[in-house]
Amino acid sequence: MGMTVPSATESDQILSKKHAGYYAVELVKDGMVVGLGTGSTVFYAMEILAEKIKNGMKIVGIPTSYQAECRARAYGIPLATLHDYTELDIAIDGADQIDPKGNLIKGRGAAQTQERCVASACRLFVVVADASKMTSQLSAPVPIEVIASAATLAAKRLREMNGNPQVREGVKKDGPVITDNGNWIIDCTFAKITDPLALEIQINNIPGVLSCGIFAEFTGKSKIIIGNRESAEIMLH
Ligand code: 5RP
Repeated sequence: MGMTVPSATESDQILSKKHAGYYAVELVKDGMVVGLGTGSTVFYAMEILAEKIKNGMKIVGIPTSYQAECRARAYGIPLATLHDYTELDIAIDGADQIDPKGNLIKGRGAAQTQERCVASACRLFVVVADASKMTSQLSAPVPIEVIASAATLAAKRLREMNGNPQVREGVKKDGPVITDNGNWIIDCTFAKITDPLALEIQINNIPGVLSCGIFAEFTGKSKIIIGNRESAEIMLH
């Protein structure tokens, strides 16, 4: 039995994520209230934030999921909630797809509802990713958090919008994925997403839907940081 050795591509991706996360932390200044997104790329930003905190920097983090909260606690990042702060200086979050205008698909980790609240409350929304997330047009299935009792109705509405909805199934749990907020996730494929903002609004207006994973409404206050093997650069701001 040998050890698992990361392939060249895997380690390239990890390096890219690290560089994107590290770069984002350069935008965090002493005294800031910082939204902490969910996912592996944000972990690298938290790693450096933790070092800075040990060296005397004072910040408060607002986590977007149990995952973000657990990791931030492990790193010793002081935490608060949106009850304590309704205006954040900055939020750092990942994405699953990014188009050239900075429109996003998020929600692989089923955290998009809290991520949207934090994105909405922050002055600067910093998106960190590796280059594999960039696409000319959004096309990934759109994660949609919906209350369980409205899932069938929401799926019907999504089919009327020419979507192909599938309830997300658990891994190591039978039946639907249950989100941090106690709801279900529908992943909905659309043949073409030509107007992300219009689709975001339309999906978010379906009764029972809390939030879809299309983030097109925040492009005006977004910085997109794309990491690579050696460093990272701002793709859009
Ligand atoms: C979770 C998300 C994540 O931010 C997104 O999936 C990116 O994750 P990663 O940085 O691990 O690639 O939207 O709901």
